[in-house]
Amino acid sequence: MEAFRIKGGTRLAGEIPADGAKNAALPLLAATLLTADPCTIERVPNLADVRTMVQLLQALGVDVQVQGGVVTAQARTLTACEAPYDLVKTMRASILVLGPLLARTGEARVSLPGGCAIGARPINLHLEGLARMGAEISIQHGYVHAKASRLKGARLYLDFPTVTGTMNLIMAAALADGVTILENAACEPEVKDVCDFLVKMGARIDGAGSGRVVVEGVRDLSGARHAMIPDRIEVGTLMLAGAITGGDVTVTGTRPAHLEALIQKLREAGASVEVTATTIRTRVERRLHAVSIRTQPHPGFPTDLQAQFMALMSVADGMGIVSETVFESRFTHVAEYARMGANIRLEGQNAVVTGVEKLSSAEVMATDLRASAGLVLAGLVADGETLVRRIYHLDRGYERLEHKLGVLGAEVSRATMRG
Ligand code: UD1
Repeated sequence: MEAFRIKGGTRLAGEIPADGAKNAALPLLAATLLTADPCTIERVPNLADVRTMVQLLQALGVDVQVQGGVVTAQARTLTACEAPYDLVKTMRASILVLGPLLARTGEARVSLPGGCAIGARPINLHLEGLARMGAEISIQHGYVHAKASRLKGARLYLDFPTVTGTMNLIMAAALADGVTILENAACEPEVKDVCDFLVKMGARIDGAGSGRVVVEGVRDLSGARHAMIPDRIEVGTLMLAGAITGGDVTVTGTRPAHLEALIQKLREAGASVEVTATTIRTRVERRLHAVSIRTQPHPGFPTDLQAQFMALMSVADGMGIVSETVFESRFTHVAEYARMGANIRLEGQNAVVTGVEKLSSAEVMATDLRASAGLVLAGLVADGETLVRRIYHLDRGYERLEHKLGVLGAEVSRATMRG
């Protein structure tokens, strides 16, 4: 198993480009199932989750070529309609093939993802939406089995603006018979990006990126080429890495509008954040003061940056509250931060963080993707050498993070450990 060794105490400075967004890459790849024509997606990051999605497409019979950051996929004929447990258990986002497969072939079998470190994460909203569009759905032997000769447009209301649920339903609706109106849809930039790709493929979609999306189904979609949006979570992580070290970091190739909530919170804490159309420069010259955050669906503060922001608050001056409203148990990093000397008290969905002057290095263990990133940030300011174990979680969503942090001056190396 691999781990990161981090020597804390170096101030990060410099410029680093953003990669393409993992959470856009996965649905974009799934969307290629909707057409028999070849599709090309550019700026695809080389991540474990992306490789899993490519394997899943290949298992379904899609011809996929990956060259650098360019993926070409052609689902001329699909030879299977099943997403097996072995792949789904390593990546919950495999559920994204459900809508496209069902819409294209009339049948899909996808292993139920099950729980994960950050909560139960049900998919009931995906299934209820598809059922309202006429799919017959049954759950047997751990698999969702969905069938529909052709889905029908429907009025759908989501109890919660689920991100992958919104994408699944929009992709399904793109080939349905009639108009689908999706209310309380997720507004995340990745949803908009997928819709932009679908429109290039010939889909008719209005209101993408807003809470009300209207999709007029078409008979067929064609191939398209698309360069995906930058990864706002990676960008935010790099901004916070710079900030926690009192550094001066510029991330290029970004879309600052996707990170408004983080930018405002950093400014409120006393950081200087300067933006241009495509760059964000974050500078910290004195100890930041504590601020409170509350995670919410976009444009609220992203839950995927909660752990990293909490690391920053653990060394800020004063007390702040981190409220997690999106996932019920996304606080596994708190106990690990405490092992590094952080002062954090958990009260239900709130973490009361009282900043300490200094964190101390320790051997810690990553439990999920973003929690791992938070531990790396904590290690950057801890005195001594921190060992973050189980970074396979981190590799699911960050491409060679140690290299990127190294470019900015951090001392982070990858080590292979036993056990
Ligand atoms: C996506 C992101 C993930 C991010 C999350 C929230 C991808 C691949 N992953 O995950 O990085 O942390 O959005 O921004 O894009 N829920 C239900 N029923 C459902 C679906 C969701 O109750 O059918 C609940 C979940 O348990 C959770 C909340 O809704 O509490 C948000 O989940 P959702 O938006 O679906 O997250 P994902 O799409 O899985």
